[in-house]
Amino acid sequence: MLARKLNVLVIGSGGREHALAFKLKISPSVSKVFVSPGNGGTSMEYSPGNGGAQLEYSNVDLELKEPFKKIIRFLKRKKVDLVVLGSEKYLSLGLVDYLTEEGIHAFGPSKKASQLETSKEFAKKIMREAGVPTADYAVFTDIDSAKEHIKQREKRFVLKADGLCAGKGVVVPRDKEEALAALDDYFVKKKFGKEGEKILIEDFLEGEEVSILAFSDGENLRLLPPSQDYKRIYDQDKGPNTGGMGNYTPVRFLSEKSLKEIEEKILLPVLKVMKKKGCIFKGILYAGLIAKGDDIKVLEFNVRFGDPECQCVLPLLDSDLAELCLACVQGDLTKVDFKLKKHSACTVVLSSKGYPNGYELNKPISGLNNISRALIFHAGTKMSEGELVTNGGRVLSISCYDLSLKEAIEKCYEQVKKVHYDNIYYRTDIGRKGL
Ligand code: GLY
Repeated sequence: MLARKLNVLVIGSGGREHALAFKLKISPSVSKVFVSPGNGGTSMEYSPGNGGAQLEYSNVDLELKEPFKKIIRFLKRKKVDLVVLGSEKYLSLGLVDYLTEEGIHAFGPSKKASQLETSKEFAKKIMREAGVPTADYAVFTDIDSAKEHIKQREKRFVLKADGLCAGKGVVVPRDKEEALAALDDYFVKKKFGKEGEKILIEDFLEGEEVSILAFSDGENLRLLPPSQDYKRIYDQDKGPNTGGMGNYTPVRFLSEKSLKEIEEKILLPVLKVMKKKGCIFKGILYAGLIAKGDDIKVLEFNVRFGDPECQCVLPLLDSDLAELCLACVQGDLTKVDFKLKKHSACTVVLSSKGYPNGYELNKPISGLNNISRALIFHAGTKMSEGELVTNGGRVLSISCYDLSLKEAIEKCYEQVKKVHYDNIYYRTDIGRKGL
């Protein structure tokens, strides 16, 4: 236990950040939880369904851009001991570096270490050096050589923008014509600006995707339960990619032995190489893996909790989240308690119809007070004249836990049906792959 109770600031506005705020608020070591910019859920004094607990968060507006003067003044004034960053957006701006320089504990990797997510080429180089299995790739900065390469390819391939494109920079072309059109988007139309000026063309890998989230203090890891994300908007994995429409755990096809190998042959070697390069990695290391039988390869690394993975697996943590985050920052993970509940979990994301493209906002939300035995995490919601309304594409997520996955799924959909707003949309098959 720490000497005194901590004040914590969570940065971000999604379901992931609501889950982080919730888990921090119920951590025995924590006093106050601030969220910036936050959402409708983190502005409510009472989060219905969240275990019926009377939880208080405060949303604060902190101008989350350089030179970050306002946030530093706020942190000092409110005696905030720990800042937990949710989104890659702020990690890529180097907010952890600014806070660290000011003597504030910030949970998340430095700007340099965040390159594992912000540059796909950087991540591939680290993986090569660490001997981590991943798809073969080539890098291009001009359209002509990329076109030439594509013309000569025989096997199926994937195009990836090197930089951050809010999950939209990857194209899996059905044929060469589609691939050439994608090259036009990157290099001529400059759809992703600077982030898409360099691309990777890599082999297409087949298999089942799985997300592994691990706390890292730079040398040691503590793994949260593996889970599966549902990226496509429609049932049966049809339609365009989204940020994630649901999640479940446990993942049946991943054995204890495979998990051990993932830790020893993928995650730890990456930490070692990162340290050697002077990019010590502290925070959440999120490996997006693809498994075909026992053959497991890395699709990508992210440097933060996944969304909605976080809403699904974090509540299974049976230890103090703030202590864990602080231990990562201080390079001391082996000294703190890390226990996990053995439950199965299912998270369903409720979105606005039209997402991930256009959708309407400001639809009044009702039914949350009728929800029981579930956790409600807000994302695109806000309070408007005393009423909770929709304010984004992904609006809410509902998470349920039980001894079996079947029961967790059934419980979850029972609660989901109680929520109402115009143009509500959600997938009806979350978790089914795990049964
Ligand atoms: N759910 C995928 C992600 O957070 O990147």
